[in-house]
Amino acid sequence: MAKVARQVVEQAGINVDQLLEKLVAAAAAEFTTYYYYTILRINSIGFDGEGLKEIIEDARIEDRNHFEALAPRIYELGGKLSRDIREFADVAGCPDAYLPADPRNVQEMLKVLVEAERCAIRVYTEICNMTAGKDHRTYSLALAVLHEEIEHEAWFSEFLGEGPSGHFRRETPGQSPYVSRFMTAMQK
Ligand SMILES: [Fe+2]
Repeated sequence: MAKVARQVVEQAGINVDQLLEKLVAAAAAEFTTYYYYTILRINSIGFDGEGLKEIIEDARIEDRNHFEALAPRIYELGGKLSRDIREFADVAGCPDAYLPADPRNVQEMLKVLVEAERCAIRVYTEICNMTAGKDHRTYSLALAVLHEEIEHEAWFSEFLGEGPSGHFRRETPGQSPYVSRFMTAMQK
């Protein structure tokens, strides 16, 4: 762990154990959402589903990227990921994004997707609020993730008929325009 890095955050008035709990819950939500989005993307078929497929894939890969980017920060601050993946899934900060009973119902599919993004926005807004002006590195990372979660929400909400999002497309699937600079251990 980065001893001084943790110390300065503590000295700034942050309860680091509490912050770590939030970061682990966020990482677990990314990991489980990546898993569930795999199933949602595979089931996104037919005339309606085909249009959705690409943005589900972008959101899916970007959620994996969020997990990748959060993991080292957790260890730097003296935390860790749970040894058991079942325990890890149980502490996820967002509900399971289950495939709807009728996967051909695109509206139901979209509700699951948009709710997952809305939960993520709340999670990262909370981490940003907690770390702003105090833990610069976590703040910067959480803010980068927040940018992408907000884009994801806007894409799905556009499909739900809630109005345009301004979205065109990522240059490559799951490009992570904001978070990629934090993924120093991974070739993108
Ligand atoms: Fe995410």
